[in-house]
Amino acid sequence: MPDTKAIVKVLKKIKHPRGVKNILDLGMVQGLKFADGAVSFVLELPERDKDIAEDLFQECQTKISALKGVEKVSIILTSERKPPKLEPARKGISEKREIPGVGAVIAIASGKGGVGKSTVAVNLALAFKQLGASVGLLDADVYGPSAPKLLGLEGRPDLVDGQIQPIEKFGLKIISMGLMVDPEAPLIWRGPMVGKAIEQFLYEVNWRGLDILVVDMPPGTGDAQLTLAQKVPLAGVVIVSTPQDLALIDARKGLEMFRTIDIPILGIIENMSTFVCPHCGEASHIFSHGGAAATAKKLKVPFLGEIPLNMALRESSDAGTPLVATMPDSEEAKIFLAIAKTIKQGL
Ligand SMILES: Nc1ncnc2c1ncn2[C@@H]1O[C@H](COP(=O)(O)OP(=O)(O)OP(=O)(O)O)[C@@H](O)[C@H]1O
Ligand SMILES: [Mg+2]
Repeated sequence: MPDTKAIVKVLKKIKHPRGVKNILDLGMVQGLKFADGAVSFVLELPERDKDIAEDLFQECQTKISALKGVEKVSIILTSERKPPKLEPARKGISEKREIPGVGAVIAIASGKGGVGKSTVAVNLALAFKQLGASVGLLDADVYGPSAPKLLGLEGRPDLVDGQIQPIEKFGLKIISMGLMVDPEAPLIWRGPMVGKAIEQFLYEVNWRGLDILVVDMPPGTGDAQLTLAQKVPLAGVVIVSTPQDLALIDARKGLEMFRTIDIPILGIIENMSTFVCPHCGEASHIFSHGGAAATAKKLKVPFLGEIPLNMALRESSDAGTPLVATMPDSEEAKIFLAIAKTIKQGL
């Protein structure tokens, strides 16, 4: 069984075709990981090396695969490029490209972090599945991927004919940076690299046959949002917010950004809404209540529904057993189903 040292040795022998240094010393290899026979790393090339990217990729693939004990090699190819400019989608429409074999792409976004986007994305994806759709989940949070934990994913995606194969669980096809590199490894992403990684997740993953691709966005209005909005013809975006004012101010900012670049807003969801005490049954509004519905009305976008603050929802997320898949008859699962139905009708 080889160790990381053996892999490093191989990488040190792979030279830049136009130079004398090897790709490791040139800092082109990041996040190298080797576990259970699977090697993964990010190969980063400057824009000017675009022409040699494929050859270098293949050389790494072939030479590392040849090591005894290596069963899988996953290489994410990224390249520096100019950061995308914020401009109306209309102008950049020619740049947009459909994802082959995918029906509708829906982004789940928020202004503020920690409002439950990933929880909502996973359970909504499962709800679409229950409604009979074939569904994929793209975890676009390359800094803090959550899909592996929320869905209890293990293993590494296979590469077949240079195409990344999504991992399948609970009937969903899933891809996440957390499947490529150790989620705890300190990977440093520069803005343009985030865009490039997401582009690869959109176009270099085998998503064929999907009716709906749900994209779980990182919080805010950064490179991931722009890449997605500018590259893919989005069916629309769902904004998740908690009910309190601070979260809603950020939700409005997010919403305005998507509006500026002409992305349809499918609606707002109020998460962590009412809390019903499991002991006495009394309803309390820990983070206030009704703010998202009021904001939706003010901004003239659909209000999609309220998801309660619920212990089972948090516990099932943490355990990797999402509620809609494991407790489909629960009240919360029914809420997700109703929201999914409304979104589907609006597509
Ligand atoms: N309705 C809910 N009831 C109880 N707990 C919830 C609810 N929604 C989300 N949570 C919990 O809140 C935490 C944050 O949720 P989640 O990771 O989905 O948020 P996020 O918006 O994706 O965060 P980030 O901005 O970091 O990506 C998690 O522990 C999750 O289990
Ligand atoms: Mg998240």
